[in-house]
Amino acid sequence: MTKPTELDYATLGFSYTETPYNVRCHYREGSWGRLQISDDPYLPIHIASTALHYGQQAFEGLKAFRGKDGKVRIFRMDENARRLQRSAAYLEMAVPPMELFCSAVTEAVKNNIDYVPPYGSGGSLYIRPVLFGVGPTVGVRPSANYMLIVFVTPVGHYFRNGTRGIDVMVDRHHDRSGAFGTGAVKAGGNYASSLKSGIEAHKKGYDSVLYLDPTEHKYVDECGAANFFGIKNNTYVTPVSSSILPSITNMTLMTIAQDLGINVECRKIDFEGEIESFEECGACGTAAVIAPISSIYDPDNERHFTFKTIGDVTKLLYNTYHGIQSGELEDKHGWNTIVE
Ligand code: PLP
Ligand code: COI
Repeated sequence: MTKPTELDYATLGFSYTETPYNVRCHYREGSWGRLQISDDPYLPIHIASTALHYGQQAFEGLKAFRGKDGKVRIFRMDENARRLQRSAAYLEMAVPPMELFCSAVTEAVKNNIDYVPPYGSGGSLYIRPVLFGVGPTVGVRPSANYMLIVFVTPVGHYFRNGTRGIDVMVDRHHDRSGAFGTGAVKAGGNYASSLKSGIEAHKKGYDSVLYLDPTEHKYVDECGAANFFGIKNNTYVTPVSSSILPSITNMTLMTIAQDLGINVECRKIDFEGEIESFEECGACGTAAVIAPISSIYDPDNERHFTFKTIGDVTKLLYNTYHGIQSGELEDKHGWNTIVE
């Protein structure tokens, strides 16, 4: 196992690095058991598990940061708990109680505390809770038993050019979810659906795919595994759609924007009618953080749109967001949980 002191956060990227412990909890016969701390990265599960056959699975992604004061802070853990509860309910899984989720996440961080990257390294500890059905079931119906697992892994930048600006490509020929499907919950199947378009975009030299709404392919949905925002006239505009994942980063940026006197609009964004009018565009998410979008290519119309990177508003939002996570700015909304 790589020692924390051997990691180079500047080149690490968003890759998996094994850490000593993970946290597990079983749901059996209608109730959740006690949290277990495991040093085994493998998991024996039944060959007829619903997660394996029918994708009865959902996950979360959140981060812990080491501040200048040396303290470790977990960002907005309660919102990830709520979103996993919504995902679980949609996929007919056992719903983990808020306290169980928060204890599992906190224990996972505490037990791997040396892997929280140092302040100023550009790294963070990515926390990955996952909930899944552990059969046995062969008919298409929900499992009776579930597992909640939380592992952590230190990460650096998600996008190669994350801080300089990313180039994205519109894809009207693949959707990550249906209009009334699982897009608004964090089901693993959405990510399986996005692999093909993501790989095709990478092969063409783009960092990510910009998905449009799956009904008309007219309105902006989201940007790979991140929400989209555009900025113009001191206004932060972000799409409303039934097929995008409600991003906790986006929710946070909307609050920060309002605190800073920037207007916020949540509404449909007509791609062809409006995209050109944005001064700045960005992709936001826990993994992606706030990646300014340098350019958007629309292959169907052979059009290329470019944006300011990094624009003043995006920079202000980023500095405030990062400042709160690292404990350098006041956490007036109570978003951080201090672990130690
Ligand atoms: N959209 C998708 C499809 C995602 O996978 C993610 C990542 O979680 C996001 C948006 C951003 O959400 P959050 O800010 O909660 O990480
Ligand atoms: C996150 O930002 O936490 C995500 O879940 C993105 C991930 C699929 C890489």
